[in-house]
Amino acid sequence: MAQTTDYPKAAKYPDLDAVYAECSGPGGLKLAEFIADRLDLKPGTRLLDIGTNRGYQTCFLAKEYGAFVVGIDPWIDPWDAEKRPMVEHVWRNVRAWSIQDQVVPIRVGVPDTGFADRFFDAAYSTTAFEMIRGIQGEAKYRECLAEVLRVLRPGALFGLGEPMHLDVELPEDLAPLVTEGAAAWADCFATIGETVDAFESVGFDVLESGYAPDARAWWDEFCRHDAWCRAHPEEDPRRLEVDDGRWVSFGYVIARRPY
Ligand SMILES: C[S@@+](CC[C@H](N)C(=O)[O-])C[C@H]1O[C@@H](n2cnc3c(N)ncnc32)[C@H](O)[C@@H]1O
Repeated sequence: MAQTTDYPKAAKYPDLDAVYAECSGPGGLKLAEFIADRLDLKPGTRLLDIGTNRGYQTCFLAKEYGAFVVGIDPWIDPWDAEKRPMVEHVWRNVRAWSIQDQVVPIRVGVPDTGFADRFFDAAYSTTAFEMIRGIQGEAKYRECLAEVLRVLRPGALFGLGEPMHLDVELPEDLAPLVTEGAAAWADCFATIGETVDAFESVGFDVLESGYAPDARAWWDEFCRHDAWCRAHPEEDPRRLEVDDGRWVSFGYVIARRPY
């Protein structure tokens, strides 16, 4: 699927195998640029990145936009034999990018962040909140959105990008592939309408929302370059092949904490 948008900042990182070795989910740095371009980031903006994973997008936001980023992630690395927390990967990347003065990784998660009310100028999250919905349910998803609202200053923006599904019935032949197991796609993914409703229910003003124009290109790129996808073509690549653009997408919401 051809890409519709140019991503000049992400294009500075052309080795997509390297990008997807550090990013976790479709879109990589293109997704980060797509969301960040809508957040009015300026040098020194105090930005909260929720669900950093290894922190490659976090570093990109600091390096390419000049933001001061607090990156949070509560999980340990499920692939690591020593069971180290994800934030250790963020520190590794921060050192590799030489931006120790611009990124602070912290091992906490929403909704229990402990940050002061109105502490941040902006918030960003990709491919993390849908896992909260899938594992802990819609009420927890909304509780986590409410926490983001609490820690943003009035007028500040929150940009979220996550896998979503189109507003159509789940195709019968796809259903067995996306309804079984922990954090099944059908439990994690919602429509853009349902997601906007969740934002508005906790008090955000939604400024822009939709299915990303390059959703399909991002998923294709993920399948081609993510090491897990390449080693396990029967997993996500198979789901996307069967789906064939009928149900799976990728959506985004840009929302403001009201003044
Ligand atoms: C699929 S990764 C995406 C990471 C990154 N944004 C990217 O695209 O490369 C999702 C991350 O969300 C984190 N996460 C899960 N629950 C969370 C929570 N309650 N608060 C913050 N992060 C959470 C997980 O630890 C995981 O590392």
